[in-house]
Amino acid sequence: MKVAVRYYTKTGNTKRLAEAVAGAVGVRALPIDQPLTEKVDVLFLGNSYYAFSIDPAVRDFVKGLKKEMVGKIVNFGSAAMLNSTYKKVKAEADRVGIPMDEREFHCKGEFKGIHKGKPDESDLKDAAAFARKIVGQG
Ligand SMILES: Cc1cc2nc3c(=O)[nH]c(=O)nc-3n(C[C@H](O)[C@H](O)[C@H](O)COP(=O)(O)O)c2cc1C
Repeated sequence: MKVAVRYYTKTGNTKRLAEAVAGAVGVRALPIDQPLTEKVDVLFLGNSYYAFSIDPAVRDFVKGLKKEMVGKIVNFGSAAMLNSTYKKVKAEADRVGIPMDEREFHCKGEFKGIHKGKPDESDLKDAAAFARKIVGQG
């Protein structure tokens, strides 16, 4: 199974999650400015909420994906208050015809002193276990 991990981060939280996810499935976590170089079965996509929405760069990244290059997207990320960016990412994925796995990983993310230290070691462990489950190694 071919797997890729891409993420968008402003303050480093999603990068840490992405590295846990990528490490668990044996690939590198790369920022979304690094285009996919080969067809993948699973694209783990790390992203977060900023002012109640996903960053336009994440929207553009999904918009730019080629349907034939991605079997499905698996969403992961953190936020301070809101629960999940799933619906926002799915709206973009639907436009390009790429399926989204119903499973996702979400945890709290530190923001301005709230949820200090999150994602923490336990979140990173959970993210890794989630990733292994998705690729059938969990
Ligand atoms: C500019 C900015 C705006 C944010 N707006 C929201 C928001 O509307 N809702 C929310 O739940 N979290 C919000 N957060 C918190 C982030 O979603 C949270 O800190 C997340 O872990 C950040 O991930 P990152 O470090 O990968 O950028 C915001 C964070 C930043 C920096």
